[in-house]
Amino acid sequence: MKKIISLSIVFLLIVSCGKDLPMSTFDTYGPIAEEQAFLFSIIFWAGMVVLVAVEAAIIYIYFKYRRRKNSNRKAAQFHGNTKLEILWTILPVVFLAVVSVPVLSAIWNFGTMPENPAVVVNVKGHQYWFEFEYPDLDVVTANELHIPVGKQVLINLDSNNVLHSFWIPKIAGKTDIIPNQGNQMWIQADHTGLYYGQCAEFCGESHALMRFKVIVDTDEDFATWIDHQKTEAYVPNDPLEKEGYTIFMSAKAGCGGCHMINGSKKAKGKIGPNLTHVGSRQHLASGIMENTQDNLRQWIKDPGKIKPGNIMASQGAVYMDPNKALTDSEVIALASYLQSLK
Ligand code: CUA
Repeated sequence: MKKIISLSIVFLLIVSCGKDLPMSTFDTYGPIAEEQAFLFSIIFWAGMVVLVAVEAAIIYIYFKYRRRKNSNRKAAQFHGNTKLEILWTILPVVFLAVVSVPVLSAIWNFGTMPENPAVVVNVKGHQYWFEFEYPDLDVVTANELHIPVGKQVLINLDSNNVLHSFWIPKIAGKTDIIPNQGNQMWIQADHTGLYYGQCAEFCGESHALMRFKVIVDTDEDFATWIDHQKTEAYVPNDPLEKEGYTIFMSAKAGCGGCHMINGSKKAKGKIGPNLTHVGSRQHLASGIMENTQDNLRQWIKDPGKIKPGNIMASQGAVYMDPNKALTDSEVIALASYLQSLK
């Protein structure tokens, strides 16, 4: 039984360090994550050398000086050993001094913001989603961060609620988001593709569901994406989409009080995510589910069930007031409208 338990622990440890896991910090795709993984590995292996040497010495001494049967040997009584004490003071000092060189240089590197970043993104932590604003490009979006490949990106972090932490395991380690006190980091991704991000500071009951995606684009794809994000929202022609649009903009549903839809005079809210191009995002509800009609309906029907404690569920009129509750056909129309916002 014990063997099975220890084998399964070893197995879990090995699996958790696997290479193809989306959140593995060992599988790096940018200079910051690489340097952090390098720091981890040198400190880990240096620590292993110390561990093995100390444990080997303990085991050796334990057997060499153990009490033997029928022996009257007495332990030597003495006080202190100057040579040994100097040695075990100096060795850790040398060890820490050596390790501090790459550590301090990394801290300096991470803390020195690029002078000419290719892109600046203002990241705002909400409960429980991320807002991404590109101040120089006049774009605001949510939960899916696009960046160009191989370029330095400056990230300004802020929150007006609680602590969050911004973490893209394969691209850069965590940086805390401190309410009303800006924090900065810079990132760079060296391969195009989709990367997983996660809030890494406990921020409330749906903290674990506060995820995001990072899409690393080629320069051309990034420019195309930005141009598209700048366009005003699609205005539907299809009857079902039109019905959803009418519900969305109605005072009864009140969606526009919290959500912005660029080009609309009624949807100007800033409390929830900007939905101008929500249909073009791959995921919903901050990266926790695929952006499909069915998922979108479930989300609109009962957001509190999918993400407990979110503001839409606790403050949206259609969820608080039973007289205003959305009917199934209204939910279908709304989902169809939102998905049309490519
Ligand atoms: Cu935001 Cu945890």
